Amino acid sequence: MRKKIVAGNWKMNLDYNEGLALFSEVINMVKDEATGNQQVVVCSPFIHLHSLAALAKGYANVAVGAQNAHQAEAGAYTGEISAKQVKSTGAEYVILGHSERRQYFGESNELLAKKTDTALANGLKPIFCIGETLAEREANTHFGIIKSQLEEGVFHLSAEAFGTIVLAYEPVWAIGTGVTATSAQAQEIHEFIRKEIAAKYSQEVADATTILYGGSCNAKNAAELFAQADIDGGLIGGASLKSRDFTDIVKAFN
Ligand code: G3P
Repeated sequence: MRKKIVAGNWKMNLDYNEGLALFSEVINMVKDEATGNQQVVVCSPFIHLHSLAALAKGYANVAVGAQNAHQAEAGAYTGEISAKQVKSTGAEYVILGHSERRQYFGESNELLAKKTDTALANGLKPIFCIGETLAEREANTHFGIIKSQLEEGVFHLSAEAFGTIVLAYEPVWAIGTGVTATSAQAQEIHEFIRKEIAAKYSQEVADATTILYGGSCNAKNAAELFAQADIDGGLIGGASLKSRDFTDIVKAFN
């Protein structure tokens, strides 16, 4: 049975103390909610990782992740953070290919394929984001865009390596806008993604892949989204910054 995940993406929010306070609240509120194959992941800025990972120790269903890591193993890249450094904090996950990285930092599918390899080589589990812009959806090119993001970003992986990654479908037009994809729109794309994985690898690999939805997911719409056959949880931005809202989304599994 594939993993069900609610992951928070704090983006560039919360100072060190604010992050620790929020995470402590989140752990207390979700520790009895996420059970069995359900996992809660908080992807924080780098400054919080080590402390959050220490707090998460002992809670099997709570983990910590970064929001980016460099494609090189190490070297003269002032201001960057390597996958090995992220891993050494105790973090387990790393978000790769978020549309904000693609848009503001020019991250291409080719670069993201390298980042994926480096993250995996260092024992991190990538949460690999894909999704179309509003213009691409309006031009009816969204299926092609998602297919090429998969093909160029992650389909070079072996079936075994692919089995360790999580995918997140985040339509760019739904991120931080308050406009959520309808559950039918999201399910349509998730089903498409799973079919592409089955065609590339096998039905078994496709059935085992966790595919999250991200984009204005909140306590009100989470239950309906998570009830869709191919939606295995969410990648949550704004609503992950409030412990009550985030916990309510985690509860939407039940
Ligand atoms: O990675 C999460 C994300 O981009 C969605 O953000 O604020 O729309 O939930 P938000």
